This record gives sequence, C-alpha cells and structure tokens, in this order.
Amino acid sequence: MCGIIGYCGDKAARPILLDGLKRLEYRGYDSAGLAVADQGKLAVVRAVGKVSDLEKKGIARPLPGHFGIAHTRWATHGRPSEENAHPHCDCRMEIAIVHNGIIENYLDLKEELLAKGHAFRSETDSEVIAHLIEESYDGDLEKAMLRAVQRLEGTFGIAAIHAGSDRQVVIVRRGSPIIIGIGNNEFFAASDAGALLPYTQKVISLNDDEMAVLHPAGYHIKNLNNEFLQKEIEIRETRDDLADKKGYEHFMLKEIFEQPEAIENAFRGRLIENEGVSKLGGLEPVLERLKNVKKLVIVSCGTSYYAGLCGRYIFESLSELHVEVDVASEFRYRKLKMDANTAVLALSQSGETADTIAAIREAKRKGALILGVVNVVGSAIAQITDAGVYNHAGPEYGVASTKIYTSQLVVLTLMALLIGRYQGLSFTEGSALIQAIKKLPRQVKKILTDIEHIKKIAQEYAQYKDFLFIGRQLNYPTAMEGALKLKEISYIHAEGYPAGEMKHGPISLIDENFPTVAVVSQDSTFDKMLSNIQEIKARNGRVLAVASEGSSRIADACDDVIWVPETLPLLQPVLNIVPLQLFAYFIARSKGCDIDKPRNLAKAVTVE
Ligand code: F6R
Repeated sequence: MCGIIGYCGDKAARPILLDGLKRLEYRGYDSAGLAVADQGKLAVVRAVGKVSDLEKKGIARPLPGHFGIAHTRWATHGRPSEENAHPHCDCRMEIAIVHNGIIENYLDLKEELLAKGHAFRSETDSEVIAHLIEESYDGDLEKAMLRAVQRLEGTFGIAAIHAGSDRQVVIVRRGSPIIIGIGNNEFFAASDAGALLPYTQKVISLNDDEMAVLHPAGYHIKNLNNEFLQKEIEIRETRDDLADKKGYEHFMLKEIFEQPEAIENAFRGRLIENEGVSKLGGLEPVLERLKNVKKLVIVSCGTSYYAGLCGRYIFESLSELHVEVDVASEFRYRKLKMDANTAVLALSQSGETADTIAAIREAKRKGALILGVVNVVGSAIAQITDAGVYNHAGPEYGVASTKIYTSQLVVLTLMALLIGRYQGLSFTEGSALIQAIKKLPRQVKKILTDIEHIKKIAQEYAQYKDFLFIGRQLNYPTAMEGALKLKEISYIHAEGYPAGEMKHGPISLIDENFPTVAVVSQDSTFDKMLSNIQEIKARNGRVLAVASEGSSRIADACDDVIWVPETLPLLQPVLNIVPLQLFAYFIARSKGCDIDKPRNLAKAVTVE
C-alpha cells in the first residue's frame, strides 16, 4: 500500500530515494516524503500529492547526505497532509522513521508517551514508533529499535535512521514486507524489489520478526530475540518495465494489450496435450492430497474475487469439488467446517493483500490445505501457502487490474482441469478444453483490433452518470468486474448484477439516463438474457451488449453491440472482459481521469 525505500552508501541519497519512490508510487500515492542525514543533522521534506510534488519541493531545498529513508503514503490514520506524511521524527528531530502497516495499540502508546512529555506532530499511528525509539535510544539505534518494536502490536515494515549514526539504516518486519538490496559498498531497503531495479537484483527478504542493520561497510540480520541470522541472497530477475510505457499513453492500456502474451505465459509448458490434462509444477508437492480434496473454498478480494466467482463455475463444471467463494475480509466471520479434505485457494495478484493473508491464517488454523494463485514471485502469500501456481503475467503497474485478471482465469481453468481429470473428466473433454485455451491469445488479439469501434462507443456513453452491468452464470462475475473497472478509473457509478436479479429491484432505476451493459454468450443463458434486455428496452433504457459474434437477435434487441469471438462457455469470460476493460479505459480517458493512479486506490492493499 505505502512504499518504503532506504539507502546508505557513497552516493548522494536523495536522487536514489526519489527514483525509488517513483517506482513505488503505484502502490499508494496521496503524499510522500524523505529524510536524509548529513553531518549529524536530519533534513526532512514532505509533500501532499504525487512524488513529483515532493521532487519540486526538494529542489527548492537541496538535501546533501549519503543515507536516508523515504516513503509514499496511502492514508489510513489521518487525512493526507504534510504533517501526516512520513518520515516521522522524534522530539529532537534526530530520529526519522517510515512505516508500512498499522500499529493497533498506538492510542495507548501515544497516551503513555504524551504523559512522558513527548510532543506529537501528526495524527498517524506511525509517529509513536519514532518516539518509542527516542525513549530507548542511548547511542545505539539497533538496540533502541529492538526495544521499541517489543511494544508494538499490529503489522509493520519499518526503516529508521538516526542523524548521529553515520550512514546506518535499521529495518524491521512484522507482516509488512521489507527487503535488503545489496550493492557495491552500498545497501538499500525497500518494501518492494521493484524500487531497486536500476541498482541491484541481489536481495534478501526479511521474514516476520526479523530486523537488519545496513551500513556501507556491511550488514547483519537478527531476530527479535537479538540472535544473529544467516540468510540466502536471492537474485530477482525483473525487467525494468516501469521506465517504459512502450508508446502507450497509460500502463493500463499497455497491460490490456499485453493480455495475449500474459494468457500464453499462464499456460505455456503447462498443457499435456496427449493426455488431455494440465501439469502444474507448483502443485506437485501436494498432488496426492489434492486428488482427495472434496471441498474448495476460494478467498480473494476485488478483481481477484470476481476471478474466484468465475472459478466456482469452472471447478464445478470440470471437477466433483464442492466449491465456495468468499470475499477474504468476510471469511473469518463464517463458521465453515474444514478438515484435511478441504482446500482453501487464495487468489491474489500482489500476493500482499492483508485481508487475503488474514483469511489464509484462519484457514490454516482450521487445518485446510492452503493453495495460492499469485503473480508476484516470493510475495507474502506465496510464502505462506502450502503450494501454488504463479501467473507469470509480468508486472502490472496500472492500479486497475487487467492482464492479471484474465491470467487468473486461465490458471484457474488449468487447476480445475488437473483436479477434474482425477475426478471423472474425460480425455475428450480435457482435450477440447486444451485446444480452446490455446486459441485464446489469438482471439484476444482479434478483440484488440476492434479498438476504434470500442473507443467510439465509449465516447458516446461517457455522458452517463450511472450504469448497470448484467450477465448470467459466468457472465455474472464478468458484469461485476466490468462495473468495477468503470467505477474505479472513471468514478462513474456502476452496479454489476446477475441479470435475473434485475427484476427484484434494480429495474426501478432504469430510464433513458441509466444505460445497461449486457454481457451475453451463445450458451444456455442466451434466451433469458434476451428477455432481460427486452425488459430494459421496454423501460426506455439504452443497452450496450458485449456478445458472441454474429447473433442477429442481439443486434436487433440492443442499441449498440461489441462483438467478441466465441469460445467454450467456461473460457468466454477471458474474452468478454477485454472490451469492458477498454470501454472503462476510454470513458475514463475522455473524462481526463488519472487512469493509472485512480484516486483513493492503491495497487497492493496491505491493511485490513
Ligand atoms: C481492481 C483491483 C483490486 C484487487 C484487490 C485484490 O482493479 O485490482 O480490486 O483485485 O485489491 O488485490 P490482490 O489481487 O493483489 O489480492
């Protein structure tokens, strides 16, 4: 959610910190700040808005120094303001900290620290950390940090500096990722390896309750019992995609156009055609257990939740599993019985979503097998699941997810095919599915050639203030996801509904100012969808259909149609969502919205 970067070495810290913040900005972006220390003095600059606003402020006030920390914030406690932006400092302005996560007992700590005479400058939970370190500081930042974190409840990834501890950065983790980047006589700290791309690919990930002390001469890692730890250096081979939109106006558009490749990456090397089955190396360690699983509970949030809803139909159709899908943040409130024959499948693009992590912990407690489908290699969810599958969709910087969603649908189909082939699915059915999966990249490319038509339609619909999106069966989650895309990037009110529910309430909204987007496939739901469309037309509602190619009955019934190629009903959501992504994109563009960084949102939602 928020992003952290820290540096210590021989170079000037400020440009490295600013560059890192720009790479982290997609994660959270309502304010930003940095602290650099030089000759025993701390200089702090903070600004509301984007990193570019901070940069402008920083230029007015040059900051020398070879070590420092920086942060891009997504507000949780306290509105976005300069005072609430990180870094936060102690009373003497010698210690600076940046923090991701939430300190749950901050009110008690603040009261205690106020009583001891500490002066607070912000409304944040994070500021207590700076004052707690100050309380324990006797010339050794590492020891003071160790003592301070013993008092904290909640989640944290923290980086801290003391103006007097020459070029030393201390970091600690519980629940919020933080890694060490290893350079030549220089070290970095970051909440995300992407921030370090131009500098190093060598990283060490801290686990929960571990801390590290970085200094240009070396580093050491300890647990919170003050015991030294040895940890492996990992090489992160990530491309520097953030530097380049490859000629596209926005990352979102670039990522929509990357879908043929992302879909192919999801199934490449994972199809065994002569056996009509899939092969998922990440699930092999638990294959024996998986064959006997009876119940599958999918947990996820937002777009990943809608992928999970599609997953329910896919697993039910291909396997014998009893499938449930839960919004991750609601999972803990259910009284679900789980045992060794239950698998819980967490879907997460970022692999960091706090709600999904909480659901996984709850399911672990109940003894279920925990599986994951995650895009970010080595992310928190990848680490805490028993087994899983990576999407390999490449980094997604547009906050509104596009290519990872379609990739999730493909991976879910491969998982269902794998399990289904142990549970009665025939070779012929498996083979037909494989042939259809292989055609998807070409079919998505075909939709993308229709971009001018979709753009024109989007411009015509951009005037409306409300939308209804409807679909049945697999097109129901597609309608929900289409509505989510529109609301999150264009700020237009849009509701996704199962089409059959329309007559139970939402139809009262329909008039000439309330258009409907109907997602229709040539499947068993076709006739009922047509009736729903006619019910809307009878009430003067304008209808745009996203429909499988060539149906004259749809063309006659609707005001506008975007045609998509036909595939097997189980795979149709992969194609049907693509025009809806473009529809949302072009409406947001015509309204001049900040498409890649919509207001109030963040790419990785690391708070509950
Ligand atoms: C919307 C979007 C979000 C995420 C949700 C879960 O476009 O991307 O709704 O899907 O915040 O995130 P992950 O998938 O990273 O767990």
